[in-house]
Amino acid sequence: MSAQPIDIDTAYATFDAIWSPRILANVNDYDVRIAKVKGEHVWHVHEDTDEFFLVLDGELAIGLREDGGERVVTLPRGSVFVVPRGVFHKPSSDGGARILLFEPSGTLSVGDRHEEVPAYVDVTVGHRV
Ligand code: NI
Repeated sequence: MSAQPIDIDTAYATFDAIWSPRILANVNDYDVRIAKVKGEHVWHVHEDTDEFFLVLDGELAIGLREDGGERVVTLPRGSVFVVPRGVFHKPSSDGGARILLFEPSGTLSVGDRHEEVPAYVDVTVGHRV
């Protein structure tokens, strides 16, 4: 962890991979992660933790399976959303987006249970910037 301020645009410039979150900072036992996303992620669930999303650029959609049905929330730039623990969700972005995530360190990008992971989705607990 850096003791210096981190410029978020500079951090974004250090990687190109989509759906491959980078750990920008730690807050107590949580990671602040950033990711570039485009296309569809994978349906997955975090059984024991909520997951915080902030859209920094572009637009993110998150499919949610809850109450026996499915819905999609749309997050334009500047939007915040929290996926509750135990809820299957699938983020996606047709045009591409930059997002910031806040979740406990060690949280796997594809959750505790998930559908088949496509090759372009990184299965990770986050990479250091
Ligand atoms: Ni998730």
